[in-house]
Amino acid sequence: MDKQLREELANWLEFFQEMGAGSINLQDLEPASRLEANQTVPSVAQAPPPAADVNPVRKTWEAPKIQPSAPAAQVAPRALAPQPGSLFEAAPATPRGKETLEAIREDLGDCRRCRLSAGRKTIVFGQGNPHAEVVFVGEGPGADEDAQGLPFVGRAGKLLNRMIQLVGMKREEVYICNVVKCRPPGNRTPQPDEIETCSPFLVRQIQTIGPRLICCLGAPAVRTVLGIKTGITKIRGTFYDFGEIKALPTVHPAYVLRNPREEKLLREDFQKIVDFLRSPQ
Ligand code: URA
Repeated sequence: MDKQLREELANWLEFFQEMGAGSINLQDLEPASRLEANQTVPSVAQAPPPAADVNPVRKTWEAPKIQPSAPAAQVAPRALAPQPGSLFEAAPATPRGKETLEAIREDLGDCRRCRLSAGRKTIVFGQGNPHAEVVFVGEGPGADEDAQGLPFVGRAGKLLNRMIQLVGMKREEVYICNVVKCRPPGNRTPQPDEIETCSPFLVRQIQTIGPRLICCLGAPAVRTVLGIKTGITKIRGTFYDFGEIKALPTVHPAYVLRNPREEKLLREDFQKIVDFLRSPQ
């Protein structure tokens, strides 16, 4: 078996074992499965960027010198407009670069602005590169995130990490946050008034970071950032345009954990992220 493919499969097996699957051996794979895996694993997957690919100023990932899977012109995002009620329409015009993430965190304080504060252990502000080119926005912290104070560190987080890694990025190069910063009781969907109270902080974080792309993970993030209520599986993979910033809705990793066959949707969209980042600014 090809060495790179073998390594890739070994990584996936390790991932599935971490996620609680029983033991699986590479030898158990039928030739047909190997072929399928070979066809679907993107060529960038095996090549995490060498140190030289990390821009020391922006401290962010730059495309490895590999042929893109499609010419940039073919992946140029369609410029669909967000709906009324989108995060940016409602946002106060905080000039980018005037704040720091630390100042926003300080302003948030020991937040008691909504009912979610009553049940939380820890505020999950966000994590990652303050100059990231991509910001991932999820729904809200779960039990693991609430315990650790960090976004996407549970099972969904492991899958998110895996996807980030698959397309040749590193978690520390991106920024990860949520539409609400406190765990909703029983992991229920955050309610509109909770999102309304919390989202000004999200807007300020995004404006301060100034990413090229916001990736909305799941319906609540899409509703909040884009103001779009259409089903996530219908609009995922389509780029939206906020002027300088683009937004890409995709399915939530937790949805993929519940529906493993849908993993290909997440992969496709993560490939779009990487193709977009390779395209000229
Ligand atoms: N799901 C989310 O939406 N966010 C997290 O931080 C973790 C799980």
